[in-house]
Amino acid sequence: MQKQILAKLQNNILIWYKKNGRKELPWRNLQNSLCDKRLYHIERSYGVYISEIMLQQTQVKSVLEKFYFPFLEKFPNLASLANADEEKLLKAWQGLGYYSRARNLRKAAIICIQKFNGSLPKNIKDLKSLNGIGAYTAGAIACFGYDEKVSFVDGNIKRILCRLFALQNPSTKELELKAEKLLNLNNAFDHNQALLDIGALVCLPKNPKCGICPLYEFCIGKFNTELYPRVKKISYENLNLNLVLLEFQKKFSIQKSSKKLYKGMYNFPFFEDNEFKINKNMKLITEFKHSYTRFKINVRVYHQILDKKDKSHNFKSLEELDNMPLSILSLKALKILKQSIIKFDSGV
Ligand code: ADE
Repeated sequence: MQKQILAKLQNNILIWYKKNGRKELPWRNLQNSLCDKRLYHIERSYGVYISEIMLQQTQVKSVLEKFYFPFLEKFPNLASLANADEEKLLKAWQGLGYYSRARNLRKAAIICIQKFNGSLPKNIKDLKSLNGIGAYTAGAIACFGYDEKVSFVDGNIKRILCRLFALQNPSTKELELKAEKLLNLNNAFDHNQALLDIGALVCLPKNPKCGICPLYEFCIGKFNTELYPRVKKISYENLNLNLVLLEFQKKFSIQKSSKKLYKGMYNFPFFEDNEFKINKNMKLITEFKHSYTRFKINVRVYHQILDKKDKSHNFKSLEELDNMPLSILSLKALKILKQSIIKFDSGV
């Protein structure tokens, strides 16, 4: 790309960002004049780190409204993460899914304390050595947390680059080189945030808004956006789970999952069809659908009251359950259970 064309393209991106970008997002204003007062004491690189890990698999709206501030209140710095009790950490992560992200936060924080003077490192190689931090997240922390002039590629930026240069199936290396060539060295922070916003708000996977795109005049793929990139269909897996609310004296059996699904999170005992044996004391109380990672789960909820304590189970009261890191799957079952208790108590 010619120098002047590149300069015009970069300028278009910045002008668009000034007018339309989500400049007010709290993790974009850490320790500047627009900083939310709840975040005054949060080190910039740390606040960026937490936002980027949350945003890996969770939408901006949800992170902003439900998770970012409460999490930073509980874990305001790397030291608090490194010393965190795993259950408290998972409880704060409850609802965000992909719980290995929370466990990796703690592992990475411990390494930062031991090796990097208690802060996140600045350089990409050191950042990538930390658990849960790949090329994209390392670049985002370096740029948004330390103003480093680096480029990076996530799913949204990939889509922009594929369309801009009409690439159907580029390698990661090819995309990283394209992003690097486009990088505006005079304002890497706004340039990169703008690309994330253009990907999220304009260059959409379906029905992109090419008419308002600042890259329109430079975009080679604009007339066949569906071709760039060629998208692989996510293959979902159907799963039947039988979840048992096993009750003894108003307490319920709960177990920490050691299976890959929900590892470390608490769940009511659940079984796939091939490992489940129904017995005559179990009552099917409801059935619901639930999505988790790549699974589309059909959940059947059974209730069974025991008249003798089964010592192989760990029983907890409803109040105790409220303070434990339960998966959303089990929280849904718990809500149904509470509703049925209310109905029963009020004689409905
Ligand atoms: N997704 C990943 N990083 C982001 C950021 N800094 N702002 C908005 N969305 C993002």
